[in-house]
Amino acid sequence: MKRKLVVITALIFAAPMAVQADAISQLQADYQAKGAESFSAAAGEVLWNKPFKDPKSGQERRCTTCHTTDLTQPGKHTRTGKVIEPMAPSVNPKRLTEVKKIKKWFVRNCKWTLGRECTAQEKGDLLAFLKNL
Ligand code: HEC
Repeated sequence: MKRKLVVITALIFAAPMAVQADAISQLQADYQAKGAESFSAAAGEVLWNKPFKDPKSGQERRCTTCHTTDLTQPGKHTRTGKVIEPMAPSVNPKRLTEVKKIKKWFVRNCKWTLGRECTAQEKGDLLAFLKNL
């Protein structure tokens, strides 16, 4: 009886951690199932810094427009002025731990920055770059 309790307690504590550590690999596996090749942090870094031109306003947009180039520092939303917590998981352990959150912001931020959704390959590359920061 006591042993069962220990096992159950261990499972309760281990489960959320396992899920967290997995968000990135889970998404990358999903992208590969959709046809992406192996992922490159270098390609992710290039895309992160790449300028795109908004056809309507002529404004230059990049991921760094809001997240800044130093991902260990807080960013600032270019439109609302709202502070964005640092993106680097090394200084912000909550980063990139929730599949739902990552998906939601990829859609929103790729559309705003690139004018289209990112491909599975691009998203996997971006995660490969961001996860090691
Ligand atoms: C217009 C401002 C803005 C731009 C440009 C922007 N982001 Fe973001 N991003 C945000 C905000 C706001 C959040 C949500 C708040 C937060 O997570 O701190 C966010 C969150 C994210 C997240 C979720 C992180 C997590 O912990 O789950 C990812 C991934 C992300 N952005 C990637 C990108 C990528 C890739 C680009 C470029 C294609 C980009 N962002 C461009 C504002 C921006």
